[in-house]
Amino acid sequence: MKDKFGREIDYLRISVTDHCNLRCRYCIPDGIQLVPMHDLLTYEEIEKVCRCGAELGISKLKVTGGEPLVRKGVARLIGMLKRIPGISSVTLTTNGVLLEECLDDLKAEGLDGVNISLDTLDPERYREITGRDELAQVLAGVDKAVKSGIRTKINVVLSEFIRDQDWKGLAELAKETPLDVRFIELMPIGAGALVAGYSNVDVFGKIQELYGTAKKDEREHGNGPAVYYQLPGFTGSIGLISAIHGNFCHHCNRLRMSAGGELKSCLCYEDIIPLRGLLREGNREDVKEAFVRAICEKRSAHCFYNIQKVTEKKYMAGIGG
Ligand code: GTP
Ligand code: 5AD
Ligand code: SF4
Repeated sequence: MKDKFGREIDYLRISVTDHCNLRCRYCIPDGIQLVPMHDLLTYEEIEKVCRCGAELGISKLKVTGGEPLVRKGVARLIGMLKRIPGISSVTLTTNGVLLEECLDDLKAEGLDGVNISLDTLDPERYREITGRDELAQVLAGVDKAVKSGIRTKINVVLSEFIRDQDWKGLAELAKETPLDVRFIELMPIGAGALVAGYSNVDVFGKIQELYGTAKKDEREHGNGPAVYYQLPGFTGSIGLISAIHGNFCHHCNRLRMSAGGELKSCLCYEDIIPLRGLLREGNREDVKEAFVRAICEKRSAHCFYNIQKVTEKKYMAGIGG
């Protein structure tokens, strides 16, 4: 279905929990209130929302968190979503800590791709950024994902915690490994508003100084706002997600749903449409109507360049990125 700006909305990001087993300093502040268990949508309720969405033209689903793999049995949900008529791709964004142990089940249920958030390859810095000592597990998950042949991407958020050797190491990973490494501009949401970020264009310029001139990579890599480039001798591609400077809102194709069942039409604004009550009363038509409203109410663009206008007050893990 198209919104009032003529954008085709065919991608739904679904957060299945706002809990996370890491504490990235730009994402989760201390002492946050988590959604209570009985307020989380069940997998059956999520499936019902997605069936309604699919009837309105949603064809791509992204499962996120917090950290989606901390929710028990999430592979079962992947299978349920894959079986919905009209759904062509189901992918997942994870911090990778539990990926090695979950990957076989996720693949068996038909997962189409995995994105792994990873800001450094240095164990000490990893501990500094995430508050946990889990780098070895994440790298084992990355390795297993690549070897399994599933489409794998690394998400690197360019926050003030990252140093030159961090992004250099991650770029090098795309040189040697068949995966894409995407450099994301930090968005001023939640804890991200208290942290400085820097431009991915600058980082990309330095990468080209090191490795040679890049060529735009026009192949389709996913459903999100990333723009991809190929560098001489690189196995994987480098992606840029220019969340602040890239004017990608005019191509926006997505809605979000929180773990508690709130439909959200833009990352930057607090506007939500609660679905949980509608789902628990069991009326599908009301759910579809809410979906249509969320699409109709989509704003034309974010306002990250003017923080006063950003009305979203949640932390990023509570939104699902
Ligand atoms: P694929 O490329 O299909 O895997 O999807 P994706 O890039 O949308 O997925 P992912 O969950 O890995 O998100 C990567 C980054 O893009 C995260 O930092 C998201 O917050 C950001 N992002 C995704 N959608 C939007 C959006 O609508 N607006 C903005 N500003 N950022 C977004
Ligand atoms: N700005 C940009 N990206 C962020 N993420 C988390 N917080 C922010 C932020 N403030 C990223 C995570 C994950 C993705 C879903 O969102 O690193 O890869
Ligand atoms: Fe967890 Fe992702 Fe937030 Fe890090 S960025 S704390 S991994 S939800």
